[in-house]
Amino acid sequence: MTNLREILARDLTAARDRTLLLTDHDDPELLRQHSSLLSPLVWDLAHIGQQEDLWLLRGGNATCPGLLPPDVEVLYDAFTQPRALRSRLPLLPPVEARSFCREVRGRVIDRLEHLGSDDDPFHFAMVVSHEQQHDETMLQALNLRAGPSLLGAGAPLPAGRRGVAGTSVLVPGGEFVLGVDAADEPFSLDNERPAHSVDVPSFRIGRVPVTNAEFAAFVTDGGYEAPHWWSERGWTHRVGAGLARPQFWNADGTRDRFGVLEELPPDEPVQHVTFFEAEAYARWAGARLPTEIEWEKAAVWDPSTRRRRRFPWGSAEPTPALANLGGGALRPAPAGAYPASASPYGAEQLIGDVWEWTSSGLLPWPGFKPMLYADYSAPFFHGDYRVLRGGSWAVGPSIVRPSFRNWDHPFRRQIFSGLRLAWDT
Ligand SMILES: [Fe+2]
Repeated sequence: MTNLREILARDLTAARDRTLLLTDHDDPELLRQHSSLLSPLVWDLAHIGQQEDLWLLRGGNATCPGLLPPDVEVLYDAFTQPRALRSRLPLLPPVEARSFCREVRGRVIDRLEHLGSDDDPFHFAMVVSHEQQHDETMLQALNLRAGPSLLGAGAPLPAGRRGVAGTSVLVPGGEFVLGVDAADEPFSLDNERPAHSVDVPSFRIGRVPVTNAEFAAFVTDGGYEAPHWWSERGWTHRVGAGLARPQFWNADGTRDRFGVLEELPPDEPVQHVTFFEAEAYARWAGARLPTEIEWEKAAVWDPSTRRRRRFPWGSAEPTPALANLGGGALRPAPAGAYPASASPYGAEQLIGDVWEWTSSGLLPWPGFKPMLYADYSAPFFHGDYRVLRGGSWAVGPSIVRPSFRNWDHPFRRQIFSGLRLAWDT
């Protein structure tokens, strides 16, 4: 238990350090709404504290009084307060939001130190995951922000390797174990469970995600003007939204990234594409998107041992030599930057860099049971979503797993989303 407590304390602290760094701006900056898709940063900040108070200090019982008065707490309910209107709410000023979060955290650490048999350590991990996920959405907001950069150009990244973009690896057909159980992955969320056997026909999958140079060839080939590459719904969206290239790309070959205007790096995985754009690109390239089940098999299944690996490269936790995570880089690493990250089948950069669109809708695995935060996954099953896998450069390293399932509407692209191709054999 001591070791688990130490891990959870470390992960809580890492998430909070990141939150405070991302909200270390003056008050007007924190109160600004950069997009109707995202909250003002001060809302995320207090919402992080409110959820921590609810799940860890009140066991999820919203009728039990929390540290905020009920008329204030209701402002931070993500289900009832539309994002576009959050900046008009009488939100806690930044100084009060910070002190509220500090107060909650102090009590949580106290509870963690005295973790009893009634406390489920998983709930602490769930709250870490929640905070890290909001840190990623805050990065989305900061990327949409107009004005000079607040975050700089980002930390250095390893160089890529020539010759890996555009290549693929074979995943022979056969059964594998999809999903995980709490016994093996105690911090996995409800929609990743339970582990179960699935038969998958042979397929090929891209060794690395699709790069900017590859996607630019689709743009210059007139891909955005050719309806036959697009699904009917994708084409309708492309026309209606006026999409002509990935978000943040300019017509002159430059891009905007966190307030920095720069040349588009050709070897970097493309990001800020909708599912519809990813699907159209794949069709143009003579390929398709992988299903999320194919993606997970390519990432973790070891055919020689007939067991899952914990990560594509093995059992070691992610490090900066294995994956681009944690948000410091502010961009994906070039294709081929992580040869040591290869899965047993040889696919690389599955974890980190860009979320990868899959062709799958969000469905429960057979035997799904909701966790304490019962509305985390279940309300979204069978909805208008596509699953994304692998995590982006903006994801906290302690919360990403090959079984982690993200989902979003197929028309969203402010997220750090890219793609990897697949082919039938
Ligand atoms: Fe939330």
